[in-house]
Amino acid sequence: MRGLYISLDGIDGAGSTTHTKLLAEWLTLRGLKVFATKEPTNGRIGSLIRDYLRDEATHPAVDALLFAADRVEHSVLIKRLVEEGFIVISDRSIISSLAYQQAQGLELEWLIEINRYAFKPDFPIILDLSPSLSLSRKRILQDKFEKQSFLECVRRLLLDLASKNGWLVVDSSRPLEVVASDIRKHVVEELKRRGVCV
Ligand code: TYD
Repeated sequence: MRGLYISLDGIDGAGSTTHTKLLAEWLTLRGLKVFATKEPTNGRIGSLIRDYLRDEATHPAVDALLFAADRVEHSVLIKRLVEEGFIVISDRSIISSLAYQQAQGLELEWLIEINRYAFKPDFPIILDLSPSLSLSRKRILQDKFEKQSFLECVRRLLLDLASKNGWLVVDSSRPLEVVASDIRKHVVEELKRRGVCV
């Protein structure tokens, strides 16, 4: 039986890393085959991206192409695991590219085109949080995207994409356990809809 590709995206500090981990642990305890992963990956292109994230001067199109290249490489693994029946949970996905790189001034159509060969999430989850709260949660600001006005724009684009595509939006300003249980509830509903016993 085919598995499921779940993605978690949101502005920096919205909790995609934490909720990927919590959801993966919970589903594993329920006896399901789970694989947690992230974008940018820890692979060769992912490491290059982390270098670029510290450099304010790079052209946004270079960032976009690197994220897309990393993702296409990552997709091969995700697709194989989903075909083997795994629930793959990714901390960030193509959705981060559509919002962050669009917020950098790039065209949505071109971003979709360069990500054409990326495997698309079956069940995207958007974690919504205001930038002022997200930045207050982050103690150390690490990359060039972590600025309030930029994140306001990313948040708007994420909410816009979610409403156009019917993606789930979860209010991440609530206490961690409330958000985690809300995510679990929606994932269980989706799995049941697909005939998986949880
Ligand atoms: P992040 O998940 O915060 O990485 P780390 O685990 O190193 O903290 O992602 C790094 C940054 O890259 C974050 O600000 C979001 C941004 N990003 C994009 O701009 N486009 C993308 O396609 C992805 C996956 C991330």
